Amino acid sequence: MGSVTVRYFCYGCLFTSATWTVLLFVYFNFSEVTQPLKNVPIKGSGPHGPFPKKFYPRFTRSPSQVLESQFKANKIDDVVDNHIEDPEKGNMKFSSELGMIFNERDQELRDLGYQKHAFNMLISNRLGYHRDVPDTRNAACKDKSYPTDLPVASVVICFYNEALSALLRTVHSVLDRTPARLLHEIILVDDDSDFDDLKGELDEYIQKYIPGKIKIIRNTKREGLIRGRMIGAAHATGEVLVFLDSHCEVNVMWLQPLLAAIQEDGQTVVCPVIDIISADTLAYSSSPVVRGGFNWGLHFKWDLVPLAELGGPEGATTPIKSPTMAGGLFAMNRNYFNELGQYDSGMDIWGGENLEISFRIWMCGGKLFIIPCSRVGHIFRKRRPYGSPEGQDTMTHNSLRLAHVWLDEYKEQYFSLRPDLRTRSYGNISERVELRKKLDCKSFKWYLDNIYPEMQISGPNAKPQQPIFVNRGPKRPKVLQRGRLYHLQTNKCLVAQGRPSQKGGLVVLKACDYRDASQNSDQQLRFGLLQVLGSQELKALYDCGILELGKIGIRTLSSVQSVWIYNEEHELVLNNLLCLDMSETRSSDPPRLMKCHGSGGSQQWTFGRNNRLYQVSVGQCLGVVDPLSHRGSVAMAICDGSSSQQWHLEG
Ligand SMILES: *[C@@H]1O[C@H](CO)[C@@H](O)[C@H](O)[C@H]1NC(C)=O
Repeated sequence: MGSVTVRYFCYGCLFTSATWTVLLFVYFNFSEVTQPLKNVPIKGSGPHGPFPKKFYPRFTRSPSQVLESQFKANKIDDVVDNHIEDPEKGNMKFSSELGMIFNERDQELRDLGYQKHAFNMLISNRLGYHRDVPDTRNAACKDKSYPTDLPVASVVICFYNEALSALLRTVHSVLDRTPARLLHEIILVDDDSDFDDLKGELDEYIQKYIPGKIKIIRNTKREGLIRGRMIGAAHATGEVLVFLDSHCEVNVMWLQPLLAAIQEDGQTVVCPVIDIISADTLAYSSSPVVRGGFNWGLHFKWDLVPLAELGGPEGATTPIKSPTMAGGLFAMNRNYFNELGQYDSGMDIWGGENLEISFRIWMCGGKLFIIPCSRVGHIFRKRRPYGSPEGQDTMTHNSLRLAHVWLDEYKEQYFSLRPDLRTRSYGNISERVELRKKLDCKSFKWYLDNIYPEMQISGPNAKPQQPIFVNRGPKRPKVLQRGRLYHLQTNKCLVAQGRPSQKGGLVVLKACDYRDASQNSDQQLRFGLLQVLGSQELKALYDCGILELGKIGIRTLSSVQSVWIYNEEHELVLNNLLCLDMSETRSSDPPRLMKCHGSGGSQQWTFGRNNRLYQVSVGQCLGVVDPLSHRGSVAMAICDGSSSQQWHLEG
């Protein structure tokens, strides 16, 4: 009974959608006549060079400067093709083709980098130690001034098996973008790294090029990030401690806003906004201002800032109260760090310490803020490339300690998710319990009620809930070009090997399907449905029961022509469904069709000189394995400009 009603409702939906589709298609066909998409600059023909305009400003000083001087059309190609590299400073200009692989040595470096560091070390090395990053601050921040008598800072950077180029870029970004009078020292804590270049070569470099303000401390055994930071702090003599990760780049005026907030209130702990440095391309991009939260599995998460917290007395520059910190980057008064009990030295290596210090700050009388005018870029890796020395799960051990010290009755929330941990041992916490008493800290209930009222609580400690609706529908990137993707040498088209809607499917060359979509209204209708509704909505229709009809079912998708969309995010989207993807972990595999993730890297393609189709994170070009074969297999290979690597996207 109910399902019949639902089905009729769906027919209704479908009919309405179909009507709309036809109308939209009539409109679309008309508008295309007057505005051919082919004119979009793709192959070095446009006014802004080989890539769409939007691509430049993200990575360089300012859009106007860039467009006028550095990047005339094809300049990027020249830089890379001639392989200009300054090994001392490596001041290669940033471009999407910086990761291009020229020989086996490049390939090895790239693969080794992903293995050891989980980011693109080839690009990191080529970038060198200095580069400008885009000023991602809100406009209001640029007008703000700060006191001249700010406290001085000791910057503490712990590293373990870091890529030397990333570490030195972190150090240089601090030196380059911090007024000398505010930078008391930089303390590097080497947590017993295994790599040779982090020993003699690093020492030598620092002595030769940046002597004076930098101290290196070397642990003789692996201590982990938590004790490593305590060791660094013990050697520091500046009034304020600033902790940074070893793969960061600070932005302009990053330190002053942090110091100013601490000067105003010595019990304030502050974090910069963490901008994103792509692990695949090392492109620097702005991140939205969000704040820290956590879930009952005791994992950190980012939350949108509640409206009530936004737009304080100082507008967009107002510090934002944050229930927790991400952990990698923050600043606090050094004496306050010591009074507050530093870190829990019973915690191992990594994990949980950020929530522990966050709870401790709020519950014991301090404050934790995110400072929107201070921005620091951080390479966000997709995995942690190292473990603990004996492979223990330090995150769980540490979380257990913090639950027993700080969560009071709310540790039940954690244990109900992890019942296996109820009886797990967690070492001796008596010192930390003592500390909590000594500092006269408030209850965890107080923290939840006052600092993180948004936290959902179920079970024994439940409170009446108010659902929070966050509606941030994904914005569709603008389409630059649409059409078939021709392989010029064979004059065949790149299509899905199986169903175009199948995640993980391969792409192959096949004879192009020249049936004109407009002569096949049925097909056009289905295709149009896809264009207008998108895959999600179409799936909803399937779920609704339309799938049973068999007319507009999965079969529909496979009969749709292979139309690629190239959009401003540099994605190649097949039939508006899936993106052509090269995951960095399997660069010898052919590209596959994957869900579009919208964060560049493995799904970022550029059309370059010689009609090449270059994949940014792999550093190679798409080619055909054997142009004479009927199998039509494609694969990534070193860009050599050969005819098997030439492609053309055309409507
Ligand atoms: C735990 O540590 C404290 C001091 O750090 C010590 O006095 C106490 O005996 C320890 N407890 C156990 C069970 O080892």
